Amino acid sequence: MDRVWRLACRRISTFLTQIRPQSALPALQPTIDPIDRHRDFEHGPYVKTRIPGPKSQALLARLGSIQDGRTVRFFIDFEKSAGNYLVDADGNRFLDVYCQIASLALGYNHPDILASLRNPANAHLLANRPCLGVTPPIEFIHLLESSVLSMAPSGLRQVMLAMCGSCSNETAFKFAFAYYRHKQRRGTSPTQEELETSLSNQAPGSPDLSVLGFTGANHGRSGAGSLSASHHKAICKVDFPAFDWPRASFPRLRYPLNEFVAENEREEARCLAEIDGVMTQRKAEGRPVACLIVEPIMSEGGDMHASPSFFRRLRKLVKEHDALFIADEVQTGVGATGYVWAHESWGLDEPPDMVTFSKKMQTGGVYLRDGLFPVLPGRIGNTWMGDPAKLVVACEIANVIRRDRLIDLVRLSGEEMLKGMAYLQSRHPLISNVRGMGTFCAFDLPSTELRDSMLTSLMNKGVFAVGCSTKTIRLRPSLTFALRHVHVFLDVLEAVLTDAE
Ligand SMILES: Cc1ncc(COP(=O)(O)O)c(C=O)c1O
Repeated sequence: MDRVWRLACRRISTFLTQIRPQSALPALQPTIDPIDRHRDFEHGPYVKTRIPGPKSQALLARLGSIQDGRTVRFFIDFEKSAGNYLVDADGNRFLDVYCQIASLALGYNHPDILASLRNPANAHLLANRPCLGVTPPIEFIHLLESSVLSMAPSGLRQVMLAMCGSCSNETAFKFAFAYYRHKQRRGTSPTQEELETSLSNQAPGSPDLSVLGFTGANHGRSGAGSLSASHHKAICKVDFPAFDWPRASFPRLRYPLNEFVAENEREEARCLAEIDGVMTQRKAEGRPVACLIVEPIMSEGGDMHASPSFFRRLRKLVKEHDALFIADEVQTGVGATGYVWAHESWGLDEPPDMVTFSKKMQTGGVYLRDGLFPVLPGRIGNTWMGDPAKLVVACEIANVIRRDRLIDLVRLSGEEMLKGMAYLQSRHPLISNVRGMGTFCAFDLPSTELRDSMLTSLMNKGVFAVGCSTKTIRLRPSLTFALRHVHVFLDVLEAVLTDAE
């Protein structure tokens, strides 16, 4: 009865939200519900086979003979998928709250993206992949301005594209190292000895500089740079040579944050003192920290939050140590937290020196403050340095975010999601630590086994979610995730929790 009543209340509240005059919800009410522009499946999830179903299993067997397919859950039928629903090879339809590891900005097959890709005027950009550092196409600057730069965080006007999130961070590290050495040399060019020793990976040409990261953080795993700054999963690191770079504790806060303010403040002060100590010690040892990298919400590490005041003090501390501050917004960036960039919620006096992005932007890259490009040209780059075809998609994403006021929609859906999950937490002791910003939400289960079994139950009832760290379920829906999707998710979660008790 209670469930029926709550369902009815939700339906009424959705209806009221839709008919409420604009002025009643000035900040949150989207002018156009994107669902009206882009209908996805009216009837919600639909699961008719075991997962993976027979068609996915057959494809998996073929894949397994040519590459390691052991992490694959099932195959997607992209053509049949739409909006926030993915359809798998066997015709099962899932509400997708994972979205290709947080990288679908507008869901599947958004009509504006499809139209842009079908536009014959864009065909030559899709057909010819340039080396952007040597011969960029004539449309390149316009594409950059209409996509990546149109969403640039305030204070950061320069950008350099990269191929993925890991490469974005490695590019940022190289900017930081080059800048540090430039300052140490007081603006002079590298010496002959430095040039020669760099070729054999020896000092002084290959200096003992480091990146400070946080325990539990993930900054990618493409190569030694991003992997050395990541400290989350041993299985991703073991056996691979890495740099001897330091790490410090990220605050382990208690939730809900507003109930444990004093305790959380003490924890944040402890972490800041530790960071200060690590940076001081490294400098004394002659191997200084050139930059610190931090995720606004430590994602793979378990969706760990810290307060705006922690980040403000961290930014100041890093500057005092003469290092650069990099916000890794590969996962948090492009709207999902209810801000285009999560770090905008911190109220910084001075922006980060660099912000890295990828995933929802469709291209990797680094935003930089002025003055960080090395004095000598050609020092940082590779063959492609991005992909104009992906900028065509990123332009549509930027347009649709603005036109459909998707950041407002994320806030509205996120509020509803957190309210609903807090309600479920109050009724079902199995879940705890409901937390989130926008629709970038998470909750915990008592153990890895229970978390994994809940993910399977959710999938069997048509919600595709994935965990992070050891006992967390994280939600990474697209920016078009509307109230009706929130309600489908909460209903399935409630059914799974009820079954589990
Ligand atoms: C915060 C963060 N940084 C970097 C990366 C690495 O990105 P990619 O897998 O595209 O290399 C990830 C990937 O999940 C991430 O979450």
